[in-house]
Amino acid sequence: MKSKPTKHIFVCTNLRAGESKSCGNKGLKIRTQLVRLLSNTPQKDHIRVNKSGCLGLCKSGPCMVIYPQKVWYEKIKIKDCENIFNKSVIDNDIIEELEVPDKRWNK
Ligand code: FES
Repeated sequence: MKSKPTKHIFVCTNLRAGESKSCGNKGLKIRTQLVRLLSNTPQKDHIRVNKSGCLGLCKSGPCMVIYPQKVWYEKIKIKDCENIFNKSVIDNDIIEELEVPDKRWNK
């Protein structure tokens, strides 16, 4: 039996029709890459990587959030996934270059 997850990663995969920017397929590829990385680790039964709807950062997507750390990342590229996974998901560290600044939440 699987145990309750200790960590959740939500990757925006919202695809919006029209000209407004959305994370869409880029978010889906990032989520797929994170799932692939997770599948090769002993923590795979304790961490979930979920697709999410819009996280409210559309203009700076693709974006994601890791709980319970509450670390938000933006402008993620596929090449960032391995670093995100190893540094933030496994080692609970923050990648400052990708982090959404706190001041954005205090507007
Ligand atoms: S569409 Fe991804 S944050 Fe809005």
